[in-house]
Amino acid sequence: MDDTFTLVTGGAGFIGSHLVDALLTDGHDVRVLDDFSTGKDENLDEAWALAAQGGAGLQVMEGDVRDEVRVRDVMDGCGAVVHLAAVPSVAQSMEDPVGCDSVTHGGTVNVVRQAVEAGVQRVVLASSCAVYGDAAQLPIAETTPARPLSPYAGAKLASEEVCMDAADAGQITAVCLRFFNVYGPRQDPGSAYSGVISRFLAAAAAGEPVTLYGDGRQTRDFVYVADVVRAIRAALSRPLVGATVVNVGTGRETDLLQILDVIDERAGRRLERRLEPPRDGDIRHSCADARRAGWVLGWEAVTPLAAGLAHTWAWFSGGYGAEVATWRFPPGGRDGE
Ligand code: NAD
Ligand code: UD1
Repeated sequence: MDDTFTLVTGGAGFIGSHLVDALLTDGHDVRVLDDFSTGKDENLDEAWALAAQGGAGLQVMEGDVRDEVRVRDVMDGCGAVVHLAAVPSVAQSMEDPVGCDSVTHGGTVNVVRQAVEAGVQRVVLASSCAVYGDAAQLPIAETTPARPLSPYAGAKLASEEVCMDAADAGQITAVCLRFFNVYGPRQDPGSAYSGVISRFLAAAAAGEPVTLYGDGRQTRDFVYVADVVRAIRAALSRPLVGATVVNVGTGRETDLLQILDVIDERAGRRLERRLEPPRDGDIRHSCADARRAGWVLGWEAVTPLAAGLAHTWAWFSGGYGAEVATWRFPPGGRDGE
């Protein structure tokens, strides 16, 4: 990375705001482009405080990643782009496929095109393990054929192709990071489309029932947001050429009932489960083969799920000042605890 701005689209969102904090802490000037559709002003409170300390500059621009003129202006003076803005919900994409594709794929077309025009060197794309669909074998390596099951997954795969085409033409270096299921503080639990851990922890904090779509035995590879931020920073700074596709996950799978069991123990009561049919487009099992991230980015996830959940629970139940108690999975459960 050079000394110019790093543009973070979707920088007021969950993952984006943690990335902005980390880049500013490292002394990089950051520009955020966000339409605040799911992003929030308060997610950037920490970033403004860091910028006020004087080490690095922060600019926050409101706008839509599909707006050609806006994105052209925002790209000026940027050395790298981390493109996170998207409609991030599989379920929402089943209900509004056109809207999802427009923002997620259409936005990427515009961002990459304007990046090329502006001479930006590197584009890091937030892709998703959703592109694999229901893989025949776990863990899932990058060589596994993509079989998207939802418009969201299709839009992410198409977004990767946009990045790769530009990289193949020698116009940018592209790093497509296939995030598995990211969780942590600031994940918005506020809609039925929100990430499952944020939904469960918010319900536990409010003493409300949780909704289980299906039997709860579906598995995910849950990766803590601070680990994901380290992967993005490695993708920005490693000496790479052309196009690279990398899984960002822990290599461990956990089902929803295991997560609920540890939340129950922590909450001191059994959360009421409301059972609903499985959601359309839902993947049954997911788990990363994350070895390539080690080879290419020098990265591996280091936060055990129990520790990540403890920090996330502390945030949901009392903000950053809350005490972080130790959480444990039952013997033989995840993390071998
Ligand atoms: P988020 O909703 O918190 O962040 C998305 C951000 O993009 C928000 O700030 C939103 O306001 C902004 N945005 C949406 N549409 C926009 C538009 N048209 N123009 C400008 N800004 C717009 O979600 P997140 O979980 O932080 O996800 C970030 C990225 O990571 C997304 O691309 C998502 O698909 C991807 N991803 C997330 C996960 C996960 O588990 N959270 C997993 C895989 C991939
Ligand atoms: C999530 C991300 C998506 C990412 C993908 C990678 C969100 C909103 N979605 O999608 O951006 O690309 O991981 O795998 O961050 N569930 C419940 N109850 C709830 C909510 C969800 O049972 O209240 C179930 C869902 O039906 C699903 C599982 O939990 O089976 C995970 O759902 P969700 O957190 O939405 O994640 P993904 O759909 O995997």
